[in-house]
Formats: sequence, C-alpha cells, structure tokens
Amino acid sequence: MNGVLYGVGVGPGDPELITLKSLRLIKSTEVIAYPKLKGSKSFARNIIEEFIDLPKVEIAIEIPMTVNRLPAQRAYDAAAQKISTHLNMGENVVFLCEGDPFFYGSFMYMHSRLYKKYLVEIIPGVSSMTACAAMAKKPLAARNEVLTVLPGPLSKKELERRLADNNSSAIMKVGRHIKKIKSVIDRLGLMDSSLYIERASLKEQKVLKLIDAPEVAPYFSMVLVNKEEDPWL
Ligand SMILES: C[S@@+](CC[C@H](N)C(=O)[O-])C[C@H]1O[C@@H](n2cnc3c(N)ncnc32)[C@H](O)[C@@H]1O
Repeated sequence: MNGVLYGVGVGPGDPELITLKSLRLIKSTEVIAYPKLKGSKSFARNIIEEFIDLPKVEIAIEIPMTVNRLPAQRAYDAAAQKISTHLNMGENVVFLCEGDPFFYGSFMYMHSRLYKKYLVEIIPGVSSMTACAAMAKKPLAARNEVLTVLPGPLSKKELERRLADNNSSAIMKVGRHIKKIKSVIDRLGLMDSSLYIERASLKEQKVLKLIDAPEVAPYFSMVLVNKEEDPWL
C-alpha cells in the first residue's frame, strides 16, 4: 500500500503555535520534506528543529527565486518524484509548511502534483495573518467589515484600488515592496490605521506603526490596515 502525504502547517514561527496534530505527525513520520531558498535554511524546518528525532530522511527542496516560474516548477517536479519514491514504498511523508499549507503555502504545488495518485491529508496551521493580528493586538475584522488579503507585489494602482475599496486589509509578501506600500497607504490617508509586523511570534518580532517601518523590510513581514469603519466597541 502507498504511504500518505501530509501537508503539515507549523505556524508562523513560535514552536508553541504548532498544533498537537502537526506535532504528532512530525514526530511519528520518518520522511520530512520542506522548501528552502537557495543558500538559506528552511524556515519551516527551523520551527520544528527541537522536535525532530534524527535520523529522519529529509528532502530539502531548493526553490529558485526567479520571476520566471519555470525553474521553481522544475524544482517542485523533481521534489514530487523524490516524495513519490517514498510513498511508493509505503512510507508516509510529512511536508512542512510555514503557517498554513493552503494559505499562500508552497504545499499546494506538491498537492497538485500528487493528489491524484496518493492519499493526501492537509493539517491546517496558525497562519501568519492571524498571528500578526494577535501580536499587534489589533482585530482583523469585526461585524460586517470586509477583510481583503493583498500580495505586496501587486501594482501601485491595483493596491490603491483594493485598499480604497474595503474596510480591512492584510498585505503579505511585503519585503522589497515596502516603499511602494507605504506611499500608496500615505496617498490614501491611511497611515494612522496601518501597522507593520515583522517576524511575528519570534523573539526578533517587531510591531511598528507603518510610518516607522524600516525602508528595507524582510520577507517575513506584513502590513495590516484597518479603517475601523464598523467600530466594535
Ligand atoms: C508565501 S507566504 C506564506 C504564508 C503562510 N503559509 C501562512 O499561512 O502564513 C509568505 C508571507 O507570509 C507572511 N509571513 C509569514 N510568516 C510571517 C511572520 N512570522 N511574520 C510576519 N509575516 C509573516 C509574510 O508576508 C511572507 O511574505
């Protein structure tokens, strides 16, 4: 019988935010796979490092960061093949995902390649968006407010249109787009309603007013905007 592929969310960084189910699977499964950027350590693996009993078989998937999607697609193809080899031998595989696997998570690339042939289970995780709101002590949305999730790489025009059109927004993948995001928010007069959160739940965490955000932001940062148009008091 083939093994099962588990897409396991490991939360935003603090190991105490891993769910009991994810932890049980991580501890009991012999093969773990995780994405990593070339030349750096895997964030998802770092989160669970203290719980891994070695030796485990590890499949590190190096993802090239290129605008052209083909090199990354090739890397996922190769990883799917490696994972299949274990599943075909009846071994279960845990694929670690930072945050939640199906919320901008790389697990979806593995899922789409393997779900037709193998049993796949997805274990949800605490997403960075809810973690950022918690660390910023700022509710994401209340009553009938509309919350929109916006990727930082969107164009200035698109960001402006969407920010203007809803009550509350979470801007992900801020990184090198911080300057653009700040200028759009400033133009809309929303600076006072915006917070910048960096590495939420880790000891290096920063929660700042957007106006005080650094000019260069790391990849693991987010901007939360809430106009408080439907006050929850
Ligand atoms: C590819 S998405 C992955 C999201 C993840 N699957 C989740 O559920 O949170 C990466 C983006 O998530 C956000 N992010 C992830 N972890 C974060 C953290 N600890 N603090 C702030 N933002 C984080 C950043 O905006 C980052 O660019």
